[in-house]
Amino acid sequence: MEILDSIDRNKLPRHIAIIMDGNGRWARERGEDRVYGHYEGVISVREIVNACGEIGIEYLTLYAFSAENWNRPKQEVDALMELLVNTIRKEIEDLKKNNVKLHIIGDFESLPAICQKELNEAKEITAHNTGLNLILALSYSSRQEIVEATRKIAEKVAAGTMKPEDIGFETFEQHLYTSAFPDPELMIRTSGEYRISNYLLYQLAYAELYFTNVHWPDFRKNNLIEALLNYQQRERRFGKTSEQIQTNTPQHA
Ligand code: FPP
Repeated sequence: MEILDSIDRNKLPRHIAIIMDGNGRWARERGEDRVYGHYEGVISVREIVNACGEIGIEYLTLYAFSAENWNRPKQEVDALMELLVNTIRKEIEDLKKNNVKLHIIGDFESLPAICQKELNEAKEITAHNTGLNLILALSYSSRQEIVEATRKIAEKVAAGTMKPEDIGFETFEQHLYTSAFPDPELMIRTSGEYRISNYLLYQLAYAELYFTNVHWPDFRKNNLIEALLNYQQRERRFGKTSEQIQTNTPQHA
């Protein structure tokens, strides 16, 4: 029996969010430059995207570059941007073929023009795909996203097109970058760090958090399946008691 068969298809998360950490350490442990770890990390990206499509996950969000990552040495930032452009160029045919639809969240305008162009083209090419939604978080800061949403709402209130009493969870969520996606039910962080690092702070409110010591370049399909099996053993209570959950609510609906 393949390990894939041990997954309960009725208890899959619709949306998985991943913090792909440990590329730099993985490379340094091998006496290589940090950038080498990012190159190897792309192989894991490809494998995890394919595995999610195969398993039937609907949404996968990858933290590819945080707003804080701009503060890294210029050589590393440039290498990451170049890697992003080259990877999109190389993978676009497969994304198309595998029915993957690409989305971007984050401060898109702050990316180099060539990245914006490549990403816009890739989004257009995959726009009608109906399989996995691959969401790349680029130049992403969750605090920034929340502040921007608040500002947009405040502007509408000031202009008289929205009333303060109409602001609820739904209105607020409509102003986040992620307005078109359900919240992630599972968040995976690789490389042994136990932090959220300004990632989807609002959207992860009820997500199950899974941490593994495996560095991102070593994180492959079997590791993803392990995370899913772990997720499927958890009881998602949403603030209720265990007894209420067992008698009333479908857990993974
Ligand atoms: C974290 O490792 C990883 C990143 C900041 C970049 C992630 C990028 C990739 C996997 C490649 C490009 C992605 C796509 C979608 C084409 P780190 O450098 O913080 O590692 P460290 O904590 O060991 O220093």
